[in-house]
Amino acid sequence: MTRSGRHFLQIPGPTNVPDRVLGAMHRPTIDHRGPQFAELAHEVFQGVQELFQTRGRVAIFPSSGTGACEAALVNTLSPGDRILIMETGWFSHVAWRAVAIRLGLAVEYVPGTWRRGASPEDLDACLSADRAHTFKAVVVVHNETSTGVISPIAQLRAVMTRLRHPALLIVDTISSLASIDYRHDEWGVDVTVTGSQKGLMLPPGLGFNAISERAIEAGTSARLPRSYWDWQEMFKHNEQGFFPYTPATNLLFGLREAVAMLREEGLANVFRRHTRHGEATRAAVRAWDLEIFCEDPRAYSDAVTAVMVPDGANADLVREGILEQFDMSLGAGLGKLAGKVFRIGHLGSFNDLMLAGTLSGVEMGLHLARIPHKDGGVTAALKSLLSSNETRDAGSRPTAAEMTNVR
Ligand SMILES: Cc1ncc(COP(=O)(O)O)c(C=O)c1O
Repeated sequence: MTRSGRHFLQIPGPTNVPDRVLGAMHRPTIDHRGPQFAELAHEVFQGVQELFQTRGRVAIFPSSGTGACEAALVNTLSPGDRILIMETGWFSHVAWRAVAIRLGLAVEYVPGTWRRGASPEDLDACLSADRAHTFKAVVVVHNETSTGVISPIAQLRAVMTRLRHPALLIVDTISSLASIDYRHDEWGVDVTVTGSQKGLMLPPGLGFNAISERAIEAGTSARLPRSYWDWQEMFKHNEQGFFPYTPATNLLFGLREAVAMLREEGLANVFRRHTRHGEATRAAVRAWDLEIFCEDPRAYSDAVTAVMVPDGANADLVREGILEQFDMSLGAGLGKLAGKVFRIGHLGSFNDLMLAGTLSGVEMGLHLARIPHKDGGVTAALKSLLSSNETRDAGSRPTAAEMTNVR
């Protein structure tokens, strides 16, 4: 069937790739061992530091996010090392626990309900009991994409600092970097992992590790086998502006453009934009009288909202109807949430009217799938957008007195 207009890609990543980024990649591939490439590489290495809010090194792999998760583990740990992984949802399981077990690490999976962020109290209990410092790393997903729940990284780090526990802190920001405030250096994170296909507004295909000095030091004695992912090989070549193997050249052109766009908007404004869209989406869900899966308002994600359907209803049918009728993709419930939630992605290259269109599609889809709900979600979202816009503009708009003076 021919579809008119643009597909609405409202899964929580891959996200919509802006025309500027598409345009930047639409060019002949260049020699990745030539001077023009070295210039590009140096520019992107510097640019991505700003996004992680770090002065340290950032390794960029031609990989998916999971590859970058594996890179974080194999560069810092040895076979049989004990690590703590905080259970937050599907991704703490598939991208971390399953990968770590396959690599031969001894995983302590700290249980979580999926509806709240990783708990500093639970981490405190685990690390306090570990007087011999047998845990070598703590792994946390910052924004759990399967649930729309944020974990408090600074607070988790504070627990480790207070207990003087030397474990490395490894954080997955695959669906939060460049969407939700995240500070690699200030929060004392050792390895931050991300991917290209969400807040960075690129197609899938790049994986990133931001790396602390402590993590590099740990790498000198880490014995997990590594070749493709080896940071030292990467650094050696990166110094000259090159890679140990053929890099994803055209994605790097896109990355340079994405960094330029984020710089122009300003990271603080990017975060604020996501906050407004998160709030407006949640206003819609409440007006529909449906339940937001995240049950702790402090942990609401401004990148993705998981919406529960009432008992007996099937969230997949809602999504399927919306795809068929309105050409919009929403995120499915993953793992134990299959059929129970659908997820609205509101991250990356996104604006008020795209959100309004997205929520209109959801509201019509709820009707078509005969999901018991109330009307008025879109109206509530528009009100939320307008009121947050007024608050945002209030500071920069002239006061009434100033206006009079001007006249
Ligand atoms: C939080 C999180 N971690 C890990 C992954 C895995 O990344 P990828 O599918 O790019 O390998 C994803 C993917 O969506 C994710 O959202």
